[in-house]
Amino acid sequence: MRPLVATIDLSAIIHNYAFAKRCAPGRQAFAVVKANAYGHGVREVVTALFEVADGFAVASLEEATEVRALHSEARILLLEGCFEAAEYPIAAQLCLDVVLHSAHQAQQLLAASLVRPLNVWLKLDSGMHRLGFSAAALRDTHQQLQGAAQVAELNLLSHFACADERGSETTELQVEQFLDLLDLDFGQRSLANSAAILTIPAAHMDWLRPGIMLYGATPFADLSVAELGLRAAMSLTAQLIAWRDIEVGETVGYGNQWRAERPSRIGTVSCGYADGYPRNAPAGTPVIIRGQRVPLVGRVSMDMLMVDLTDLPNAALGDSVELWGAQLPVDEVAQGVGTIGYELLSKVTARVPRRYRNG
Ligand SMILES: Cc1ncc(COP(=O)(O)O)c(C=O)c1O
Repeated sequence: MRPLVATIDLSAIIHNYAFAKRCAPGRQAFAVVKANAYGHGVREVVTALFEVADGFAVASLEEATEVRALHSEARILLLEGCFEAAEYPIAAQLCLDVVLHSAHQAQQLLAASLVRPLNVWLKLDSGMHRLGFSAAALRDTHQQLQGAAQVAELNLLSHFACADERGSETTELQVEQFLDLLDLDFGQRSLANSAAILTIPAAHMDWLRPGIMLYGATPFADLSVAELGLRAAMSLTAQLIAWRDIEVGETVGYGNQWRAERPSRIGTVSCGYADGYPRNAPAGTPVIIRGQRVPLVGRVSMDMLMVDLTDLPNAALGDSVELWGAQLPVDEVAQGVGTIGYELLSKVTARVPRRYRNG
């Protein structure tokens, strides 16, 4: 069997969910499990959080259906709402909470015939300009929907554009925009993603929406998971499957991109870009072998990558190689390739087996 596995520590996810709730005592939290729980496996994550999560948030009806099959009672929030009119009756059957972000969606809901009314979250475009009503349009829609047969709770939600930049002026303005609407009658309010849960108490409202923090990666460029007190959930672990010694001037990998400046021992590792490891990771990106950092050399291939073992002469065939995880934050690898932990975690491909442990 190919020695590459993503080991998911479910107890870390439970710890991180409890941590989110402790940041905002008395509030409830939708665990954001869209995109296969950011690559961690939605079935296992929902099952692990079964007893503790107040609800789950997903990006589509398909994802919601999967979560509902695992949990018959939890609130499940459709973060982008329904994509077509025919989805509203299904959402009602599944007892979902739906976002409404446009007049078009509101009309579709009002025209729908449902087995039961839906909890509706009106989404305010408070400044991100991705989805949501303007404040004025939201007021109109609130009036139209209040008392409608299709509506159970009428709630308010918005999303931050820059909560990961501490002290951002945009965030302050977004909170103000949100608060300005609270003269309207809303059942529940929700504004905070992970970054806001961790650092903006004024944004906590009634329902939190923690995503990335559940998985033990940081939403901040300048605050590590260790500093935040979170635990990494995923360790991506391969093996050293070959090694060789090369002379000064010899090259490694496709395109001869890396050239040895000293006699070097090169190790080959069973993980490549078809597993989700970023192909653009530069030479020097660390991996962990025997507890020590070892630098990547040469271009990442589809199924393998190479590392410089010269300073770790006791490394041996079969040694395990951590690409990211408990010893090496995914955020560090992400920063080195100009992306964020979210992308690396959610792009670990289906061919990488997930193994689950509890603690
Ligand atoms: C609307 C909405 N709420 C909450 C989240 C969770 O954000 P984070 O993973 O930064 O906690 C997301 C994620 O993209 C989102 O789109």
